[in-house]
Amino acid sequence: MKIHHIGYLVKDIEKSVPSFEELGYRIETDKVYDPLRDVDIVFMINGGYRIELVSPKSGKSPVYATLKKLGSGPYHICYICDDIDEQAEKMRENGYIPAGETAPAVAMSGKKVCFMFRRQVGLIELVEYEADD
Ligand code: NI
Repeated sequence: MKIHHIGYLVKDIEKSVPSFEELGYRIETDKVYDPLRDVDIVFMINGGYRIELVSPKSGKSPVYATLKKLGSGPYHICYICDDIDEQAEKMRENGYIPAGETAPAVAMSGKKVCFMFRRQVGLIELVEYEADD
């Protein structure tokens, strides 16, 4: 499956952006607040690599505990699919466990995303892209 981005947890997105710019990333999309997950999100690009900086706004965020435990760092890889329901179902049959509902991602212009977990792989994200997107 094609990779869309690598999700990267950071404590303070404003402070992290210049550090990633030093590493050769440029901002792709300005900061967006996602109320569903209570996180700020900025997408950055470095050549063929896209990262999603994710910063929890409070302890209510589902990624707050992960950041506390692991500190800043990559925590999911997002894969592109053309039918998210079909793909998620296929992965459930292969032993993946859905982590939450499929929902539109405000930071990705409302594209449908879902998270899946499998012990041998860890956390992954699926995003649905039409063929002409
Ligand atoms: Ni993501």
